[in-house]
Parts: sequence; C-alpha cells; structure tokens
Amino acid sequence: MHFPSDQENELFQDLERVLFTREEIARRVAELGRQISEDYRGKPLVLISILKGGIIFLSDLMRSITIPHAFDLVGASSYRGGASSSGKVIITKDAELDLRGKHVLIVEDILDTGHTLNVVCELLRIQGPASLEICCLLNKKRVRERELRQPLRYVGFEIPDEFVVGYGLDYGERYRNLSCIGVLKPEVYGG
Ligand code: PRP
Repeated sequence: MHFPSDQENELFQDLERVLFTREEIARRVAELGRQISEDYRGKPLVLISILKGGIIFLSDLMRSITIPHAFDLVGASSYRGGASSSGKVIITKDAELDLRGKHVLIVEDILDTGHTLNVVCELLRIQGPASLEICCLLNKKRVRERELRQPLRYVGFEIPDEFVVGYGLDYGERYRNLSCIGVLKPEVYGG
C-alpha cells in the first residue's frame, strides 16, 4: 500500500518538529510485534485498543504479530478534542468479546496523565482475564497526577511533555492521518 508522504499532507505545516518519522515508527512497531509474538506464543491473546487514537497503532501492531490473536475495541475519551485532559474519562464503548481466561493486552497510543488507562484497566479487569498488560506507543515523561495502577509492559518511545499529534493522535479531531508523530506548533492550539 502506498500512502502520500507527510510533506504532501497540508497539516504537516502545523508541526513545530517531527519526533518520529513513519520509518522510525514502523521499525519500533515491528520490534514490539516480534516481542509480543514471543511472549504470548501458545496463549489465547486478545488485543484491546482504545478508541479513537489507538486504532492506527493497533492496525500496524497486529500485522507485526505472527501468532494467532483476536482484537476488540473499547471507547474512552477525556480530551474531547482539546489539548488538555478534562480529568473525567467517559467510557463510550465496552469490549464485545468474552475476556474470561484470555490474555488481554491493551494497545494504547499515549500515556499522559494516566486517567484513561486506569479507567480502562478497571473496566477490563472485572471481566476476569487470565492476564492484563499494557502496550503503549508513547510514554510522556511528566509528573502524573495519579500514579498508573498497572505498569506498562511494552513502551514504544519515551517522549517529552509536549503536545503531540499524528499516527492516530489528534487535536480537534485533525492530524490523526499524519504518518509521523510530531509536536504541534503552540499557536495552533493557543499554547
Ligand atoms: C487520548 C489518547 C489516550 C489518552 C491519554 O485520548 O488517545 O487515550 O488521551 O491521555 P491520559 O493518559 O491523560 O488519559 P482522547 O481522550 O483524546 O480521545 P481520542 O483517542 O478519541 O482522541
């Protein structure tokens, strides 16, 4: 499949700088896929991604995994299109698969305040999985308002405390279709 370059995307000009190119992301996702395939071989694995930002990462990660697995989606939102967390996570969709006895791996795009992952972990834990772990592409280095109750098992990249978009991440529902991940110019979001 051929996608246009990010330079051809008119949203690209709103980036202050690129943190990770499409190629760097692809290399890291492939490594994560290899590791997950080794760790979960022979186990009933279910990947669960969090709408909406996580689905681009999920779609690439699952094709990097070489063992059988299912996937499902939960819906959670706290930023409501803005640049800072409202602190209130709204669950908009529960998983549909029966997770009892399954090895569940949450596939998330970014850990920022940790509110979203804390709420989603609780939602999934009460469904009785055999194990529950997190694979997060971006781990934002910042003082967390609330400690993450479940440590991250797999991390793609550590990133600085800046507002990032692309590869599923949005501002005002835009920028999700950039193939790279970059820092948004502060004047775009009034920062
Ligand atoms: C974003 C992102 C994560 C969450 C991380 O989702 O996709 O799910 O915020 O932030 P936190 O650690 O501070 O909770 P958002 O609520 O913007 O919804 P979206 O994925 O639909 O854009």
